[in-house]
Amino acid sequence: MITDPPQVHGFELRALEESDAPGLLDLFSDPEVCAFMDIEPLQTEFEALDIIDWAQAQAAQGVGVRWGVRRPGAPRLIGTVGFNRIERSRGRWGEIAYDLARDQWGRGVMSAILPAILARGFKDWELLRLEAMVTAGNTRSCALLRRMGFRQEGVLARRGFWKGQAWDQLVFARLAD
Ligand SMILES: CC(C)(COP(=O)(O)OP(=O)(O)OC[C@H]1O[C@@H](n2cnc3c(N)ncnc32)[C@H](O)[C@@H]1OP(=O)(O)O)[C@@H](O)C(=O)NCCC(=O)NCCS
Repeated sequence: MITDPPQVHGFELRALEESDAPGLLDLFSDPEVCAFMDIEPLQTEFEALDIIDWAQAQAAQGVGVRWGVRRPGAPRLIGTVGFNRIERSRGRWGEIAYDLARDQWGRGVMSAILPAILARGFKDWELLRLEAMVTAGNTRSCALLRRMGFRQEGVLARRGFWKGQAWDQLVFARLAD
């Protein structure tokens, strides 16, 4: 199953489900967490449920998956990670995505998790390329990707438009070989 979670020492990953709505609201209601994302900070659990519905539809179609991240035995959702896109018919690539609650930044959490996500893409699904789209200015995300062996391939100038302004998108990629 595409939703089967990767094993990561020190963390529990589980595909997002409806019961995650309060935790997701908590995570994505923080303007700092959403600063470089294409969503406004969430205000209601209904908005969180929309995201969960989207993630579940992606998984049902086999084109994406999003896991919630927790510490073992703790109920709190501290972040999410997964694939916004998995392409296995007209290419062999995936687009990763990730986020952490503000109080989890600077502790190496995503650096600990991403190797298992990359292994899922490269080893289990035999993808040839993993990419990430980063909004210009998101220096933490850029640093994380570089630590993980990604390199910046280019800039999609003014590719995004949300929160009333245009945003440049940086294309990062790592190849299987
Ligand atoms: C992107 C994001 C996940 C990066 O978080 P992060 O905490 O900087 O990244 P990591 O979890 O890899 O942790 C690295 C930090 O922990 C520190 N650290 C501590 N122990 C560490 C360890 N064992 N290994 C690696 N880093 C460690 C590093 O020094 C670094 O901190 P610094 O940048 O202050 O020096 C986070 O900023 C975030 O959720 N942002 C909002 C959502 C978002 O923008 N998502 C990305 C969209 S493209």
